[in-house]
Amino acid sequence: MPIAVDYTPAEKPDSFKKRFTERSTPPPELPPFFYANRFDKPEFGDWRDELVTKGYTVVKAVPTEKALEYRERAFQWMESFPLGFDRNDEKTWKNEHLPVHIKGGMFHGYGFSHEQLLWDLRCEDGIIDAFAKVWGTSELITSFDGGSIMLPKRVDVMDGGKWEHMDQSHHRRGFYCCQGLVNLNYNGPEDGGLMVLEGSSKLVEEYFDVHGRNSYKSWGPFDWHGFTEEQQQWFFERGCKWVKVCAEPGDLILWDSRTMHYNVRPKGDRDRVCTYICMAPAHLLTEEDRKLRVDCFESSRGTTHVPFAAIYAREFEPVKRADGTDCPHDTGKPRNPPVLTDKIAKLVGIKPY
Ligand SMILES: [Fe+2]
Repeated sequence: MPIAVDYTPAEKPDSFKKRFTERSTPPPELPPFFYANRFDKPEFGDWRDELVTKGYTVVKAVPTEKALEYRERAFQWMESFPLGFDRNDEKTWKNEHLPVHIKGGMFHGYGFSHEQLLWDLRCEDGIIDAFAKVWGTSELITSFDGGSIMLPKRVDVMDGGKWEHMDQSHHRRGFYCCQGLVNLNYNGPEDGGLMVLEGSSKLVEEYFDVHGRNSYKSWGPFDWHGFTEEQQQWFFERGCKWVKVCAEPGDLILWDSRTMHYNVRPKGDRDRVCTYICMAPAHLLTEEDRKLRVDCFESSRGTTHVPFAAIYAREFEPVKRADGTDCPHDTGKPRNPPVLTDKIAKLVGIKPY
């Protein structure tokens, strides 16, 4: 049973800015989730057992050479803006020469979520097969997430902080969503990437049972919860450790949305390129949310990670450049719009399975 959560206008952010707000809300009535117990036990005999025990796992989903071609296309996308970015000239690896992003390279504007590049990745058999195993069905819909292109040696990135969070409301019980990150470059310990608090997915429910669920801290969506350093101590005392997930080009990093995580920027010489993909069973979608998703697809708008509920569609507004003005290159439309195929139509919810 999908859960639709409404937001009051006051809760909608004006733009995609980091906006941590402490919110006090009465606990919502959430019906039991159909798949809540799916990852209770490590009984699969494959990589899904790691999703249960550690809260994350790494699956080979796209051949290495093909993944590196996707990385190349990501760089071509950045070079397609008339801002002077040159991948061979470090002096141009600055905000003024790049499309607007947050956290040193996370892109949400410019209709990026609907670039052909991102849709080609969502249609990769290896990615669809992995999510089919997660849920036990190949009839899937996808989130309209963005991606990251993080250049190394950046000197002008101001927004920092670790931003430890989980992408699931602390009001939910059990498994709700599995998130994915398609890694498109070699990614070792110094290369930036995903940090996960190993083992936290199994403990979050107990944490909130003990400490209460009176308020939550989010930049907007219901399914987001930020954790302070102090709150993390409880998890450390129970054996949880922060782990930098390393991966090869074409690896899909999957994590349970109850797993606490954040990202880090490159410390070495290598760029970090990845996209975020989250798929879930099409049958979880209500007709109301299906229409909202079709509208998002047609107007090139993004969604949150959860593809079937609490879509959190935001009206288009051009991203703001550092001087506060609208970026003239953000029309809300992708540079290379996707060609609608049967597969895409099903992954959006335009066409039923
Ligand atoms: Fe997240």
